[in-house]
Amino acid sequence: MRTAKLRALRRAAAPRPAVSRAATALTALTALAVAMVGLAAPAHAADPVLRDLATAKGRYYGTAVTTSKLTGTYGAITAAQFNSVTPGNEMKWGSVEPTRGSFNWDGADRLVNFAEANGQKVRGHTLVWHSQMPNWLANGTFSDAELRTIMNEHVTTETTRYKGRIDHWDVVNEPLNEDGTMRASTFYTQLGESYIADAFRSARAADPAAKLYINDYNTDGTGAKSNGMYSLVQRLKAQGVPIDGVGFQGHLILGQLPSTLQANLQRFADLGVDVAITELDIRMTLPATTAQLAQQKDEFKAVTTACLAVTRCKGVTAWGFTDSDSWIPDVFPGQGAATPYDESFQPKPAYYGIAEALGWTGDSGGGGGGGTPTGCAVTYAVPSQWNNGFTAAVTLRNTGSSPVSGWTVRWTWPSGQSVTSAWNATVTQSGTQVAAVNAAHNAAIPAGGSVDFGFNGGWSGANTAPTAFTLNGAACTTS
Ligand code: G3I
Repeated sequence: MRTAKLRALRRAAAPRPAVSRAATALTALTALAVAMVGLAAPAHAADPVLRDLATAKGRYYGTAVTTSKLTGTYGAITAAQFNSVTPGNEMKWGSVEPTRGSFNWDGADRLVNFAEANGQKVRGHTLVWHSQMPNWLANGTFSDAELRTIMNEHVTTETTRYKGRIDHWDVVNEPLNEDGTMRASTFYTQLGESYIADAFRSARAADPAAKLYINDYNTDGTGAKSNGMYSLVQRLKAQGVPIDGVGFQGHLILGQLPSTLQANLQRFADLGVDVAITELDIRMTLPATTAQLAQQKDEFKAVTTACLAVTRCKGVTAWGFTDSDSWIPDVFPGQGAATPYDESFQPKPAYYGIAEALGWTGDSGGGGGGGTPTGCAVTYAVPSQWNNGFTAAVTLRNTGSSPVSGWTVRWTWPSGQSVTSAWNATVTQSGTQVAAVNAAHNAAIPAGGSVDFGFNGGWSGANTAPTAFTLNGAACTTS
């Protein structure tokens, strides 16, 4: 902690290249705030600081966040590790204007204030999108002229509110179908392609300094959808539309990294626009294995390397930095572990992959990364059972070669049991899924060491023992 504290203070005191216009006004007070939040991160004494590595390369490394969580460890890592932040939801139309003419800027304000206090860029996301529109808009009936006015006024209102405080705006999000044709959103259907030009022009008029992006998914490698985006950007440029950049979301599947990523970024850059990876995550089938996490490291590294190889690639944003805050498990059941930190805020191999791509040459502590062990073993026993109750005793052994400094053990009940009270861990249950998180006193498990925790539970019919456990997302052996 002493080393981390010194580094955090040094970092706050050192001159930083301008990371946002607002950051030029970084006061001694906010510099102290950086130092203070920095105390909690990096997680391990020798861990790299992604924002500093990225800055040294003239880029940003960012994360999407849930703004209501920006305190404690979550806030500390966000501030210490990233020099750009994006609200996952809080700047979307449905969030800021749930009722027509009635605005809620709480989450968006919190994000912008947090970024300024910590010398971070803001990627504003997103102004015009077919999804997450307020009900009054999605279900309303408007003439074409009325809809155009509503859209332009929305863009103007939001960009004006944050004028001078947003570095990049995703002005239009996901305008394309998978075959590269225009998506039949309300905006396109009623207004035609000119809705895009209008939105960009409204944004430019309201906040001339913000870089204005169009953003989509499945355009990362070359192909029909990427070609559709390429043609669209050509058309917009030809019309003099003020478009500055193209965002490639990068919602990737482990093992399916597009081999044409760098070439694709480059061909857009050659059109005279900036490019960025805006929503990177790399999902896998759960439970994650050590081999999958190692491959994920390589792929996070490769995406970062591809961006660095393209001069106009301004930076990379992870779509959430921790697996505890990722949209993937909700939308792709059985998939997850898609971000650089695990659910206990421990850096995964992917975090070290990003750092290595950014030029870090340190030691990740063996096993490819921080708190991710190279192995674990769980012993599950039921020393007593009565009527419909039982007591369970669990031993978790770190069979890897690196220490664990925070743990979450997960399992699924095979016969509908429930946990009623626990000791030496906080145990929560959702349906048949159980998560046991370390207590403060037993967070650390040295290599070769073990911890014990236990709980009382309820059962009926059968009390079959679980057969599979994971530690911080990686599968354990069971005995
Ligand atoms: O806030 C409500 C909460 O009150 C309620 O209890 C809960 C019940 O489900 O829902 C909460 O809202 C959810 C919201 O995320 C905040 O957590 C919505 O249901 C859920 O649909 C929404 O998902 C977001 C998704 O966009 C919507 O399409 C994800 O968090 C967000 O990460 C995701 O982000 C998108 C980008 O904007 C565009 N590119 C794709 C990316 C992934 O889908």
